[in-house]
Amino acid sequence: MKEQLEAIRSQALTSIAAAQDAAALEALRVQYLGKKGELTAVLKQMGKLSPEERPVMGQLANEVRSAVESAVESQSAVLAQKAMAQKLEDETLDVTIPGKKAAIGHKHPMYTVLDEIKEIFINMGFEIMDGPEIEQSDYNFTKLNTPDDHPAREWSDTFYLDEESRTLLRTQTSPMQIRAMEEHGVPIRMISPGRVYRKDEVDATHSPMFHQIEGLVVDKGITMADLKGTLNAVIREIYGPDTVTRFRPHHFPFTEPSCEVDIQCHKCGGVGCPTCKGEGWIEVLGAGMVHPKVLRGCGVDPDVYSGYAFGMGLERLAMGQFKISDLRLIFENDIRFLEQF
Ligand code: PHE
Repeated sequence: MKEQLEAIRSQALTSIAAAQDAAALEALRVQYLGKKGELTAVLKQMGKLSPEERPVMGQLANEVRSAVESAVESQSAVLAQKAMAQKLEDETLDVTIPGKKAAIGHKHPMYTVLDEIKEIFINMGFEIMDGPEIEQSDYNFTKLNTPDDHPAREWSDTFYLDEESRTLLRTQTSPMQIRAMEEHGVPIRMISPGRVYRKDEVDATHSPMFHQIEGLVVDKGITMADLKGTLNAVIREIYGPDTVTRFRPHHFPFTEPSCEVDIQCHKCGGVGCPTCKGEGWIEVLGAGMVHPKVLRGCGVDPDVYSGYAFGMGLERLAMGQFKISDLRLIFENDIRFLEQF
């Protein structure tokens, strides 16, 4: 029996030290120490020994058991360390490899221009207001002193959303003048950019959807001089300090007096060229002193308060700034166009 135990010890220690992975090691543990293992099998024969031999063999058996146990334990530690080293090697990151840059895009050129304009007005103390694109004809027309029989209300000009012509896609951002005064009261200084819709055929300078920036200032003692001073300052911020402007009489139902503002063509300096269609001037916005009827309709006393309003086309501004020749490019979302800005 002594030889048997010694043989188990030496075999076990050799094969355990050679075990290459956790599964093989566990199999060896079961083979030697398990309930049906080799050591147990030997111990079952203890009964056949003489009373003198029994404690001697018992002690030897215990020694073998603990030798095998600690061999399993230490080999297990060795394997765990090997596995960790392997894992570290497999998962090595080469931090010196240049990364792949994710394409995150950038601001649309028109919104770049809009943000610049917002910035200019915010610096002048204006608030930015937002309003609905689906508007009531009351706000789009009636409260803007544009009566039922006005040609701008024609079905051929306007996208109505019901038979009674009560709701429509707003044709201008001017209804925001009304909403601003009704909701905010006066005094007020605000701009409101947004989409507007008209039944226009698409061509290089027209689109049934485009963007306007509305502006409104109402306070005590506001005059045409404020209108001119502010708009001149804004235009010179946008187009450069030497820009020449011209205020030309015009008509809008909701302003009186009304004007259109032109800038002298920056390409030809006023001589006439393709950019200004030979005119020497480029129209940039419509404006005027808020009509007393409009003020009164919003609960503002025109004998106490006065104000001015203006509206400019955003696409046209962006086209001028980035020398874009065709309005359609702004909406086509062609990546080859957008990537240029
Ligand atoms: N709403 C006018 C338009 O679309 C522009 C405008 C706004 C004119 C405010 C005067 C005052 O043409």
